[in-house]
Amino acid sequence: AAWSEGGDAARDIVRAMEMGNKNCVVFFGSQTGTAESYALRLAKEGKNRFGLETMVANVEDYDLNNLDAFPEHKIALFVMSTYGEGEPPDSAVAFFDFITSKTTPTFTDGTSLANLRYASFGLGNKTYENYNAIIRRVTKALDAAGAKRLAVVGEADDGAGTTEEDFLAWEEEMWPAVAEYMGVSEHQSAFQPSFQVTECLDQTAESTGIYAGEPNSKHLEVTPSQIPLPFDAHNPYPATVTVARQLFSLPMTSRKCVHVEFDLSNSGLTYEAGDHLAIWPSNSDQEVDRILRTLGLKGKRQTVVNITSQDPLITVPFPTPTSYGAIMKHYLEIAAPVSRQMVSKIAPFAPTKEARDELARLGADKDLFHETTQYTTLARLLDRYGGADGEWTGIPFSLLVESLPKLQPRFYSISSSPLVAADCVSLTVAVKAEEVPGRDSGDLFYGVASNYLSAVSQSFGANGPVSVNSSPTYDIAGPRNMCLFDSQLRVPLHIRRSNFRLPQDPASPILMIGPGTGVAPFRGFVQERAVQASRGILVGPMLLFFGCRDSSEDFIYEDEWKDYAQKIGPNFQLFTAFSRQGAQKIYVQHLLRQRSAEVSANLANGAWVYVCGDARNMSRDVHQALVEIIAESRSVSVSQAEEAVKTMKSSGHYQLAKII
Ligand code: 2AM
Repeated sequence: AAWSEGGDAARDIVRAMEMGNKNCVVFFGSQTGTAESYALRLAKEGKNRFGLETMVANVEDYDLNNLDAFPEHKIALFVMSTYGEGEPPDSAVAFFDFITSKTTPTFTDGTSLANLRYASFGLGNKTYENYNAIIRRVTKALDAAGAKRLAVVGEADDGAGTTEEDFLAWEEEMWPAVAEYMGVSEHQSAFQPSFQVTECLDQTAESTGIYAGEPNSKHLEVTPSQIPLPFDAHNPYPATVTVARQLFSLPMTSRKCVHVEFDLSNSGLTYEAGDHLAIWPSNSDQEVDRILRTLGLKGKRQTVVNITSQDPLITVPFPTPTSYGAIMKHYLEIAAPVSRQMVSKIAPFAPTKEARDELARLGADKDLFHETTQYTTLARLLDRYGGADGEWTGIPFSLLVESLPKLQPRFYSISSSPLVAADCVSLTVAVKAEEVPGRDSGDLFYGVASNYLSAVSQSFGANGPVSVNSSPTYDIAGPRNMCLFDSQLRVPLHIRRSNFRLPQDPASPILMIGPGTGVAPFRGFVQERAVQASRGILVGPMLLFFGCRDSSEDFIYEDEWKDYAQKIGPNFQLFTAFSRQGAQKIYVQHLLRQRSAEVSANLANGAWVYVCGDARNMSRDVHQALVEIIAESRSVSVSQAEEAVKTMKSSGHYQLAKII
């Protein structure tokens, strides 16, 4: 195989498996960490339920051009997400290009993948084009190269919110097939911890060398300016907050929206309008306190723990030594809805027999689970089924480290243009809080990153930070170098390039459709062209369709639009739909129809169309409205108009932002 002719042995998967005595590898390609956590679960289950010797492998870390040497008696699982409009995760681009390239069948020396036995699972979103395109194309390429697939291709739809159930359903088919091939059978086994957790009683969280939430060793015990570049998905930049304010706050409906600006100077980070900013949030103290209390660790927030892996191929998901408090606040996803699998895993450790039985039933019954656990975090569940003192002291800490996902950065569309100020980047974020069904109205389920940013904005006055923990539920103090350092409030972040881009030519007409905070990237687009216009560059027509509930409540950036209109002139037009102001609901798609003359004229001139927003079915309805407008104005059939829209999409003239 290729590596033996000068390749890097450490990147050889066949060899890595041989050295580690593994017979099952779970490859993953992950953008936001979801595919990675499912890969880890598969590896864990393969080991615990079927006695397979499993390992996980990021496709980025291996040269897969020797897959042809993959032994027949071993098995590979592929877990891969589809990102944006059918793109592979950044880390899987090389693998994807390699496996799907026309010349692939020359796997090193012309051999095929006839020895490779595999199964595959994809994560996608049906709301967007090219649903699960990546796993489909990977599967097709593997099959074409002669690999033998042992089970149906699993496909998860995040758009329908069924990722977890889709995964469980796929597992039900996949494991029996894999077990049969490998000649193993399922056994009920007691929990086997992957990690050894040791409390270091002679140290406190303040001691040197103890991680307080830092993402990696480069951040440990240095000032922000000492952290080595580059800043990226593995190494976030603690950026200073320069502006943070509420755009609106409506206590009656607990709807809020915040605007936050960050300084990128000296970070080496650059961006373009339409790119994404990843925010590395921390959990609220309310959630941290709750989980520590239910686990009986309330008095041990500062206790330092050292965590080591029992298996060289399974790494601890965060740096250690650290403290119980820091783990819950900075490293684990404790405030997300609990998964059905997790329920089954913790059931044996419930403090009473009734709770054990009920939880086992809940974990096994899909419908019951979904009826009763909406917006239920792990701590809430533990609370509900706790003993007299409400504590679950029996759960091995390793189980939590293994089973709770790692706290992930959250992506938002940038709402500014670097032409205004290259070192300044802004976000426009709707603050999420949902009522937990069947609970007191005061018990809300809070979105992690949006509430973190909301707390940041509450800690920020007109002239800078006023305190780091002025919010009653949220102490935003981060690791030592990220909280109020040198009187500056800092938030860890990195930038991700996107394809959501203005046309190259500033004179090209554009249609922007962005209800709610979906307008965020369009603020960046409009800012960009306002600067160009003020430099005397000719900018083309820009039609912005914005929708919100009420002009007096959630009409964000109302004053700014006027300012941009003045700079750009009549070529910038804002159309607004206020859905709860008149007798009838008016949405952006209705505005498009009302303005069909302008819309079709611009389309005829080659306008680019951009849609962003998370309102249910909005992008579908907008698509429909555009098809109708095209059919009518060009006197063509609906299916011909559909074709025209399809062509626009495939040529990049019609873009949908997945992230707002
Ligand atoms: P509504 O909440 O009154 O239904 C921003 O959230 C705006 O998008 C709101 O005015 C909201 O209206 C509207 N909205 C909700 N669903 C939508 C849809 N399917 N298409 C377009 N706009 C929608």
